[in-house]
Amino acid sequence: LDARPPILAIDGPAGAGKSTVTRLCAQQLGLKYLDTGAMYRAITWLVLQSQIKLDDQLAIADLVSQSDIKLQLDANPDHPPRVWVQQQDVTDTIRSPEVTQSVSAIAAQSAVRQALVRQQRILGQSGGLAAEGRDIGTQVFPAAGLKIFLTASSLERARRRHKDLEQQGAAPISLEQLEQQIAQRDQKDSQRSLSPLCKAYDAIEIDTDGLSIAVVTDQIVQHYRNRFGI
Ligand code: DC
Repeated sequence: LDARPPILAIDGPAGAGKSTVTRLCAQQLGLKYLDTGAMYRAITWLVLQSQIKLDDQLAIADLVSQSDIKLQLDANPDHPPRVWVQQQDVTDTIRSPEVTQSVSAIAAQSAVRQALVRQQRILGQSGGLAAEGRDIGTQVFPAAGLKIFLTASSLERARRRHKDLEQQGAAPISLEQLEQQIAQRDQKDSQRSLSPLCKAYDAIEIDTDGLSIAVVTDQIVQHYRNRFGI
């Protein structure tokens, strides 16, 4: 008998509300929280820091093999998890525009994906986890107990991102520009040859347009409880 709570896998494009929703679900269901995007961001930060070219796959593979990423795994709905690379706290810098612009190029490389997926599976071995990303239900945990695919229109996602940026006091960028950036990143993430963003056949799709975070969270928590009788 397996006493560990089943894994909750949440995938979807940037800006669909995955992070907040996954953190809230983890908190309400008593699961640990794994932000796999933060791991790709951490490696990207390390590459930028090391002044290695984004397309130098050999040097990047070498760097990844020597990297030491640590993530805070307890869910806090109010803050993204703390992240350390080589003992340095990069929690804030991995959300910078520089990292955000370069991360797709890094996440498309097979050595990077292999190393990070291996680490993600190790984190999943020891117990109940709510993991979010692009390939959680398809590649990382194909046997996850519950798979959710969160979507939203690109305009809705641009609106949410715009609001976030305003709250952070970041440099203003128009809604149109943001929507364009989001559409570009979607395209890169869904058209790359390795583990493209795609819905697992057995995932439940939730279109979050017009739904509040609380409603989406509640739907997922109910699915989880109904399925596992917890
Ligand atoms: O969710 P995010 O914006 O922090 O993700 C950052 C980038 O990492 C995004 O461009 C997609 C990529 N990513 C991925 O390829 N696979 C994952 N499991 C998570 C993120």
